[in-house]
Amino acid sequence: MCGIVGYIGYKQAYPVVIKGLKRLEYRGYDSSGVALLNDNKLNVYKKKGRVSELEELMIGKDVSATVGIGHTRWATHGEPSDRNAHPHQSASGRLAMIHNGIIENYAPIKQELLKKGYEFKSETDTEVLLNFIEDIQINNQCSLEEALRIALKRITGAYCILLLDKEDPETIIAARKGSPLVIGIGKGEHFLASDASPFIEYTKEVVYVNDYELAIVKPEELVLKNLGNEKITPFVQELDMELAAIEKGGYDHFMLKEIFEQPSTIFDCLRGRLDAAAGTITMSGIEENIIQLVNAQRILIVACGTSWHAGLVAEYIIEELCRIPVEVEYASEFRYRNPIINPGDVIIAISQSGETADTLVALEKAKENGAFIFGVVNAVGSSIARISHAGAYTHAGPEIGVASTKAFTGQLAVLMMMALKIAKAKATISDERYLMLLSELASVPEKIELILSRSEEMSAIAEKYLDASDFLFLGRGYNFPVALEGALKLKEISYIHAEGYPAAEMKHGPIALVDSSLPVVFIATNDVYHEKIISNMQEIKARKGQIISIITDGDDVTPSLSDDYFSIPAIDEVIAPILSVVPLQLLSYYVGTMKGIDVDKPRNLAKSVTVE
Ligand code: G6P
Repeated sequence: MCGIVGYIGYKQAYPVVIKGLKRLEYRGYDSSGVALLNDNKLNVYKKKGRVSELEELMIGKDVSATVGIGHTRWATHGEPSDRNAHPHQSASGRLAMIHNGIIENYAPIKQELLKKGYEFKSETDTEVLLNFIEDIQINNQCSLEEALRIALKRITGAYCILLLDKEDPETIIAARKGSPLVIGIGKGEHFLASDASPFIEYTKEVVYVNDYELAIVKPEELVLKNLGNEKITPFVQELDMELAAIEKGGYDHFMLKEIFEQPSTIFDCLRGRLDAAAGTITMSGIEENIIQLVNAQRILIVACGTSWHAGLVAEYIIEELCRIPVEVEYASEFRYRNPIINPGDVIIAISQSGETADTLVALEKAKENGAFIFGVVNAVGSSIARISHAGAYTHAGPEIGVASTKAFTGQLAVLMMMALKIAKAKATISDERYLMLLSELASVPEKIELILSRSEEMSAIAEKYLDASDFLFLGRGYNFPVALEGALKLKEISYIHAEGYPAAEMKHGPIALVDSSLPVVFIATNDVYHEKIISNMQEIKARKGQIISIITDGDDVTPSLSDDYFSIPAIDEVIAPILSVVPLQLLSYYVGTMKGIDVDKPRNLAKSVTVE
């Protein structure tokens, strides 16, 4: 949610910043802008629309500067427009600032400034904060750094800001609370960004800035301080990310690349952990906390979006295999409803980005109340990974397409291994079933490969249903969360209204929608519910609904009830969601692209939602 990038050093800043913005565009793409500082000349350019439109605007402009900042926006305060785009400039024109986050108490501060005669060019909270900082500096006759510190103590909300002062062309000042900031360390240069993708070809040495920290960044020097003006020693880490991971590599879209990467991302997730032949799962985060996990009285799963759907699958698996009660919570609800957290509770946080504001704050609150937090996170070094007591990375690599695909299946693989490991330690699973599920899980990469090799079949199905205005997705048991995920994927990237429902519950409402124009997608793989879901299909058929089913290879009953079907390799029902979701990812991808939608950047969405 908003991407920020900054460069200070000996290179030309503009090419670094504009390329960085393109890589961060998944975080927001309604407008973008850059500020370039050359000696004491500060030039700001901004434009509504994609970064490519900013690039066009920049043709012929003076871009020479070795200091620059850039922003790609996901609108919160004020509509997407040129004037609301960042960077903003202070009233005097001396300062330029970009911001990712929301200043919640901007209104009274704005009133204060209006009374003093300040005028605002935009509707943003960012311009308010910037003028507030300038006003403090003028009144207190202090340094910009000191003025920023005073301002930050007065504001509430979330921010990651980068600040330029045209009277100090050798410095970028940055600060964060609740929105991510990583600094890349080069020789005689520094890079600043929301994630490391803008600078991975230049340096692998990074410092993740923590909440309530300020960074004073010069070409040769990085100083970190807290809001009390005390210096903090930067903790330099080595980045484990390659350039190829953030490029399309010959695919038309990142989403398609990421769908097709799943055999290898799941393989990477299982590698070094799952040894089906030896009957072992090695996960240090679990082993080091096994007593806590085995004795958990209750597991609370906290997440948003697609990650929340992974949590629902985990609920079914953990309850069945480990016999521990599980509750799955939307982080945005959990954080505000004063939830009961008992000493024996374990919280599992699931997040691709590790930066989702609602999940992060929910965890901070739970942690304050003494909860033990286990993070299932994809982005290494992210905020959620860092505040968790223990965890397991999904190792899916950078996910750029806004609609989550490979991160979801990676989450499922980790959660399945977790459940199996806890069940084994608790002796709530027989040895035979445990070994069988291990080998089923090990077979997933190969089976996804088989599904993907028949992607054309799904493309043909998609083409038939392009004009539908609604879709219903139905599943039972382990495949109910998959139905929810299938519906979410479709609406995210095709803008077709879609609902996911437990197949039996459909009789209590959605059945009223069924007529010959409604495609109903059944996730009807072979499991204990199979006969029951066939009855549900009959109910739809009797009302002339069109049926698309996801079935298991060899099922010769379901095709006769279906207008179209896609079959997947047989697998135990506990592991099935990790396979059955793949055709649904393909369905939504093909419908979205055939409708001409930019599936990597669908309207109004952002990949990393760092505001509540
Ligand atoms: C956004 C993304 C979704 C994602 C959700 C949760 O809505 O568009 O794809 O599932 O945030 O994000 P997280 O990074 O916490 O998994």
